[in-house]
Amino acid sequence: MQNIVVYPGTFDPMTCGHNDLAIRASQLFDKVIVAVTENTRKKSVFDLEQRVKLARSILSQQINIEVLSFSGLLVDFCKSQKANVVLRGLRAVSDFEYEFQLAGMNRRLAPDIETIFLTPAQDYTFVSSTLVREVAELGGDISTLVHPEVQDALQNHFENQIKD
Ligand code: PNS
Repeated sequence: MQNIVVYPGTFDPMTCGHNDLAIRASQLFDKVIVAVTENTRKKSVFDLEQRVKLARSILSQQINIEVLSFSGLLVDFCKSQKANVVLRGLRAVSDFEYEFQLAGMNRRLAPDIETIFLTPAQDYTFVSSTLVREVAELGGDISTLVHPEVQDALQNHFENQIKD
């Protein structure tokens, strides 16, 4: 039986921190499914299709990492993929409260699915998609925080916004 972990998120866009976490997980599990979805609480810059495309391209060299999109409950998606582990990243104490709630709710919905946490490399503990988008929008250098394809996509997005 394959040991499969689902790494869910909005990934708007995928950062070097997300990438770091997915690769760490790929060394611990037979297969990692990076599961991209909408977050009803956030309005995303990139649509679902673009976010999946970018994540696939960034992780294309990783043989045991697959990028899929899903809608609906995360626990239902995990069951459909025969995965009983969810991976989330913890960067700082400030992440903990939300992650604790998410893990608790998912456990209530599906007691046989466990949530585990990994921390990213020290260099990425301050990196979030939200901050990366903000820095990119204001013309700051994000080259050490995201893959070049993400950097291009963000630059194009904000350039087009100025033209509109
Ligand atoms: O990257 P994010 O935005 O922090 O990820 C949050 C995400 C997508 C993992 C969470 O919103 C989620 O699991 N959404 C799927 C719908 C669901 O199952 N909601 C109940 C979870 S408690």
